[in-house]
Amino acid sequence: MSNPVHAAHYADHALYRKVEVVENVRLARETYRVRFACPDMARRVVPGQFFMLRLSSFSDPLLGRAFALYDTVMGEDNEPWGIDLVYLVHGKLTSRLAMVRPGQQLDVWGPLGNGFDPVNVEHLILVAGGIGQTPFPALAREHLGLRRYGNPMRSSAPVRQITLCYGVRSGEYLAGIADFERLGVEVHFSTEDGSQGHAGLVTDLLEQVLSLACHSRQILCCGPERMMAAVADVARRSNTPCQVSLETPMACGIGVCFSCVALVRDHRGQCDYKRTCVEGPVFDAEKIVW
Ligand SMILES: Cc1cc2nc3c(=O)[nH]c(=O)nc-3n(C[C@H](O)[C@H](O)[C@H](O)COP(=O)(O)OP(=O)(O)OC[C@H]3O[C@@H](n4cnc5c(N)ncnc54)[C@H](O)[C@@H]3O)c2cc1C
Ligand code: FES
Repeated sequence: MSNPVHAAHYADHALYRKVEVVENVRLARETYRVRFACPDMARRVVPGQFFMLRLSSFSDPLLGRAFALYDTVMGEDNEPWGIDLVYLVHGKLTSRLAMVRPGQQLDVWGPLGNGFDPVNVEHLILVAGGIGQTPFPALAREHLGLRRYGNPMRSSAPVRQITLCYGVRSGEYLAGIADFERLGVEVHFSTEDGSQGHAGLVTDLLEQVLSLACHSRQILCCGPERMMAAVADVARRSNTPCQVSLETPMACGIGVCFSCVALVRDHRGQCDYKRTCVEGPVFDAEKIVW
């Protein structure tokens, strides 16, 4: 995957900031969107990159956690000034984060990782499982020609159609659907308990969408590892290119600790461990040894 900055030095370009929370609002069951002011990070980030985040007033957890860019926030001058992250309350950090109020501070470093390369296809198919929808609003906005990201700002050819296939365990966890629909993304969703949308797995939705679409297309996927492996399999069988954004647990986020490695094949088919934080989190699905 092409990257303008060599992976080994990538984190050298990250910023560290103490930022002030502007909003921390509930979107769905155990799911929140935190917004903080940080114009220099907002100007630099591209879709698919992530930030490491720590709570400034707590030493437990000591290590930061990774969160994908949900989107940048624009000011009246049409310049980005803020960052939105969306998170599911899961363990130590996210339970405390859900209690953070506007005015409180967070330690944030980033933007980190390679992000998604701009794609040049007619139909972009996004597949999200659980909280895996978070890297996609900015990506959809960019590929619909509604905003440019990065510094210098990068260009992408607008795509004709974007479809989101989004699967969660129960309807109460569906978060951000209105954000996608406002952008013009066609959303299909599934729940494992059948409470809303298609009763079943997100791969059922993907197979349906692939059976209808006939023009040039690309799948981008994020979610639990088993789901991404299943999506990679559907993509391979339908001969559709697929990139996945891995959510391997991370400790440093800057390429130092090797806690985030994934087994990846190179162009000769040889396997090697790659650091998800600097050489990912986005990889070609075909290269991952699931
Ligand atoms: C590149 C990247 C982007 C991410 N983006 C988001 C996002 O946008 N929104 C979001 O809610 N989360 C995201 N995550 C996951 C996030 O970093 C945290 O792992 C998660 O929020 C749990 O943190 P916690 O402190 O609340 O739970 P913890 O107390 O750390 O964890 C509780 C349990 O979950 C396990 N665990 C921790 N991290 C993971 C993981 N990544 N995968 C599987 N099991 C894990 C631990 O081993 C433990 O058993 C992302 C992860 C990565 C690597
Ligand atoms: S999280 Fe430390 S090397 Fe990737």
